[in-house]
Amino acid sequence: TEETLVLVKPDGVARGLTGAILARIEAKGYALVDIRLVEPDREVLEKHYEEHAGKPFYEPLLEFMQSGPSVAIRLAGNRVIEGFRSLAGTTDPTTAAPGTIRGDFGRDWGLAVQQNLVHGSDSPESAARELEIWFG
Ligand code: GTP
Ligand code: MG
Repeated sequence: TEETLVLVKPDGVARGLTGAILARIEAKGYALVDIRLVEPDREVLEKHYEEHAGKPFYEPLLEFMQSGPSVAIRLAGNRVIEGFRSLAGTTDPTTAAPGTIRGDFGRDWGLAVQQNLVHGSDSPESAARELEIWFG
């Protein structure tokens, strides 16, 4: 089995979609190992998003991620890293496939950062690194 870090980002929590998103994760059969409401400070977000430092959406992204609480989830299951990325859909919510979290619930709000509801680690290395940041 494998573990990944999932975040329901501030737009998902603020829009009251946490339950709907968790329902999809549970229906798929993945196991919730740990779950908590988080309000990360800038330092945590700088570590989490270090690969994006310097990109045009980086500052708006860090600001958005501090705009309200997120839900952090340690999620387990066979091939859960790619499995959750598949449930989430592609980054841009406008073109994410219907049936995915981003495709069904997300859209382009015309803001500086794509508010796409969820985060999922993109590799085993990222998952280990991110789980350490958010769950220690
Ligand atoms: P995460 O699961 O959140 O990491 O999404 P991802 O892996 O699909 O996207 P990526 O890691 O490339 O980017 C991290 C986050 O930055 C995205 O989820 C978006 O919120 C935002 N973002 C990424 N690319 C763009 C972009 O081209 N434009 C804008 N405005 N925001 C972006
Ligand atoms: Mg990513």
